[in-house]
Amino acid sequence: MITIIGSINMDIVTETTIFPKQGETILGNKFTTVPGGKGANQAVAAARLHHPVQMIGRVGADEFGSSLYNNLNNEKINTKFVKETTCKATGIANILLYEGDNRIIVVAGANDEVTIEAVDEAMDAIKNSAIVVLQLEIPQQTVTYIINICHELNIPVLLNPAPSERFEHQWMDKLTYFTPNESECHDLFGDDLEGALMQYPNKLIVTLGDKGARFYDGKQHQFIAGCPSTVVDTTGAGDTFNGAFAFCIAEGYKIGAALQFANAAASLSVEKFGAQGGMPTLADVQFRLNNMK
Ligand code: RIB
Ligand code: NA
Repeated sequence: MITIIGSINMDIVTETTIFPKQGETILGNKFTTVPGGKGANQAVAAARLHHPVQMIGRVGADEFGSSLYNNLNNEKINTKFVKETTCKATGIANILLYEGDNRIIVVAGANDEVTIEAVDEAMDAIKNSAIVVLQLEIPQQTVTYIINICHELNIPVLLNPAPSERFEHQWMDKLTYFTPNESECHDLFGDDLEGALMQYPNKLIVTLGDKGARFYDGKQHQFIAGCPSTVVDTTGAGDTFNGAFAFCIAEGYKIGAALQFANAAASLSVEKFGAQGGMPTLADVQFRLNNMK
């Protein structure tokens, strides 16, 4: 079982070919609402690959909340610990999509109710996990609590440090895998990327966008090349990577093979609109990997 503890957002997407300047009004091209949230996205990515996934999260008692809850169920994710909170509205992400690239503002809302108590309720289920997956769109103290528990219980834990402003260095020693992108890695460890990689062998995995990912295996630096793709929307590419990586670890892959698989999954995800729109099935990923050789 893969356990994902994290955010569930409605993505409110505006497509535009120009950005408004301060005080300016412009005409956009298209408006859409689609399921998102880093936690939910990673859960969907792993579930599409056909591994049992359970999610721990919170939505508001509103229309977005029930639609996102239904979406998780449709994706065959166990939602026993996805609950409705009446004190906050469902989380949203305001996304400006510009030439396939994006700028995102998240309002956490109900995601702030993923508390230590919410984790405690799910403890028996967490104990049965092959891996626990975290991001930073839920309260930091909850993240600290989960990392400590997983460390004590010897459960592998993956932290995707996004948004990175919430990262705490004290977590590093207890994590099993840590997956910042290049700019997050720079924010957290400074200019010396190689030094940071060598300090955390087989743990620090730096994602390089369409160039793939790298890590240090204890002896040498490993680069795992990305797969070529035609970009429509990069929203959720990192989440697809993390969900697919977690899937591989749960299935017993070694890190290098897991990264190759996760790169292929992410390359497929960017070819369709929406964070979850292009997330591939197992057959899709295998097809891409076979056609790269
Ligand atoms: O990583 C992409 C996600 O970030 C979006 O789905 C949005 O909801 C934000 O959480
Ligand atoms: Na996409």
